Amino acid sequence: MTKTVFITGATSGFGAACAEIFARNNYRLILNGRRRERLESAAASLKERFGTECFLLPFDVRDRAAVAAGVAALPAGWQGIDVLINNAGLALGRDKFQDADLDDWDVMLDTNVKGLLYVARAVLPLMLAQKSGHIINLGSVAGKEVYERGNVYCASKFAVDALSQSMRIDLLSNGIKVTAIHPGAAETEFSLVRFKGNAATAESIYDGFQPLSAEDVASVIYYTTTLPPHVCINDLVLTCTAQADAIYFHKQPSNKG
Ligand SMILES: NC(=O)c1ccc[n+]([C@@H]2O[C@H](COP(=O)([O-])OP(=O)(O)OC[C@H]3O[C@@H](n4cnc5c(N)ncnc54)[C@H](OP(=O)(O)O)[C@@H]3O)[C@@H](O)[C@H]2O)c1
Repeated sequence: MTKTVFITGATSGFGAACAEIFARNNYRLILNGRRRERLESAAASLKERFGTECFLLPFDVRDRAAVAAGVAALPAGWQGIDVLINNAGLALGRDKFQDADLDDWDVMLDTNVKGLLYVARAVLPLMLAQKSGHIINLGSVAGKEVYERGNVYCASKFAVDALSQSMRIDLLSNGIKVTAIHPGAAETEFSLVRFKGNAATAESIYDGFQPLSAEDVASVIYYTTTLPPHVCINDLVLTCTAQADAIYFHKQPSNKG
């Protein structure tokens, strides 16, 4: 039987790459992200290439009422969700604690922590009713070690780590897997968003080493869903080979002058 995956933040980066790999593997997709037109063009392309069925939920994960209403309005045929990928998230700014913009802090906490909670709580009743499901939360190496000027982004990803652990414990008797994936540096729209559209600064983050690609991360996420029902990857850190943790990189001198 065809399985269903619900991906938040599917308009770019890891989420878009997950849509692609799950579609190639015969899943039906529920796709979220605020940029509706990107969801529509991804759905059209996946339908044409793989015959994939998509249901679009273009809400803002920070909007608690919209999340609840969007999930409640899923047609009966779309309520059997096998995999939820809580991926929508962002970093905003790279400032010292004392200089950072409080609005940036609000957006990161509201999206990375509260948005994840709203979506998980909206989808969980459907998984509990079927006594199965797999929740995959996107943390970060920034949720394992704090780095300079990472303050609230790091805190939001430490929260994802803590919430993944507690969800796993609380859901233990319900047959629901909880996997936290913690990627290191990956080249997506992440840095462009973090540096508020400054493409030169965003690109310079990846100077001198080969970062992960969105496809690298999506293939690992997909792998965690291929294991037998009694096997769960609980916590997984992945980095490119040139990165050891949140702080240490091996960078070659850049050719850019
Ligand atoms: N790239 C990295 O180096 C890296 C490393 C570790 C962890 N991560 C984490 O991985 C996740 C995906 O990041 P990415 O690298 O793929 O970045 P990305 O290319 O910027 O994608 C982020 C996605 O999140 C969505 N999003 C942001 N705010 C949203 C909101 N309020 N409501 C709904 N969707 C929202 C965006 O869609 P719309 O703008 O269309 O809403 C977009 O689809 C994030 O949680 C990020 O923190 C990234």
